[in-house]
Amino acid sequence: MRTNYKSGGISLLALSVFALTSTAATLPTTTTGASISLPTLSPVHYAQTSTLSIEYYDSAPKNDTAPVAILIHGFPYSIDTYVDVVPKLKNEGYRVIVPSLRGFGNTTFLSTTTLRSAEQAALGKDVIDLMDALKIEKAIFAGYDWGTVVVNVAAALWPDRCSGMVAANSYLIQNRETAWNVAPASSYPVKWYYYVFLTPPGYSSLASDTKGWAEVLWSKNSPNWTYTEGQLDAAALAFHNPDYVDIATNFYRNRLLYAPGDPSYAELANALDKQPVITVPSVTLDPDQAVVFPATNGSTTAKYFSGPRKHHIVNGCGENIPLERPDVFANAVLEVAQLGKGRS
Ligand SMILES: *[C@@H]1O[C@H](CO)[C@@H](O)[C@H](O)[C@H]1NC(C)=O
Ligand SMILES: *[C@@H]1O[C@H](CO)[C@@H](O)[C@H](O)[C@H]1NC(C)=O
Ligand SMILES: *[C@@H]1O[C@H](CO)[C@@H](O)[C@H](O)[C@H]1NC(C)=O
Ligand SMILES: *[C@@H]1O[C@H](CO)[C@@H](O)[C@H](O)[C@H]1NC(C)=O
Repeated sequence: MRTNYKSGGISLLALSVFALTSTAATLPTTTTGASISLPTLSPVHYAQTSTLSIEYYDSAPKNDTAPVAILIHGFPYSIDTYVDVVPKLKNEGYRVIVPSLRGFGNTTFLSTTTLRSAEQAALGKDVIDLMDALKIEKAIFAGYDWGTVVVNVAAALWPDRCSGMVAANSYLIQNRETAWNVAPASSYPVKWYYYVFLTPPGYSSLASDTKGWAEVLWSKNSPNWTYTEGQLDAAALAFHNPDYVDIATNFYRNRLLYAPGDPSYAELANALDKQPVITVPSVTLDPDQAVVFPATNGSTTAKYFSGPRKHHIVNGCGENIPLERPDVFANAVLEVAQLGKGRS
């Protein structure tokens, strides 16, 4: 399975600002192509945990008094999803930390023998490990898409480390016992790629064209969003990680019970099967144009929240709220901080 990946035309220099062939996107205006600056978060730093070297953006690396917000990206996206959210939070006095998930960007495994697991327990634990490495006691966690799974897990299992949570689609912690429940026919067409990624050709297709897959999924999951070639190129840089395809496919294979979890996370994984309640102040956002998880008024997920919670429907927005509606996302972080006032 790895053969195709290696010969799949992955080039670290495929900084394809010259790729004029895309139809879904509009190019930033330039005639020379000489030095287009991509919409990226930089510079990045590195923190070592017991399993990973985590690449992360940090808006105020030396400030240990500022309140911290940790923003988690989704798939197939990168830390640059937050390029327009960070300045807004920074202006409000936040130290904003945006890590690349395992398998993305330059977040790398320390050992070749560590299982390339993208199970929910591992992704959530990575956030806490990063906080430990950076000696950050408490932070607001915010995310969308995979990032929602991550912040749900981290907030539910480590409430002492979380001063508030912002999550698109509210609550996505999975009980594996329900993974094979029969779902309505209409729910499958929007999730077809979950099933493609279970197959060897699906794996090889992703490996041979990571950017093409991003284009397909961005367009599908945010049907009315006109993203730019620059935004796509910025994200595509994060897909050159040697573990990207293993991690991306493992996320779906694990959730659909086609790949076992890493035994070292078994205890956390079992706790997550109980779908633990989130007790910290929470702001949840349902984009009205999201297709995988249709917008709700929040009532169906109310049982998963025991602390103060505000739910909003985001109009005119697809899955990628931070890039499509950065003001809305930043305001949700500020709102959750207010909800948490007096609770410390
Ligand atoms: C740290 O952040 C706080 C809150 O934003 C700010 O008031 C302070 O000036 C910052 N300190 C430094 C050294 O930048
Ligand atoms: C990736 O991270 C390592 C540290 O873990 C660093 O030495 C290396 O320069 C980074 N590579 C890139 C392309 O940034
Ligand atoms: C996209 O926008 C059009 C026109 O504004 C609207 O009719 C359509 O319902 C939107 N699509 C989605 C998925 O919301
Ligand atoms: C929320 O949606 C549910 C259906 O999912 C409905 O039964 C309920 O009345 C709605 N609540 C409000 C306040 O609109």
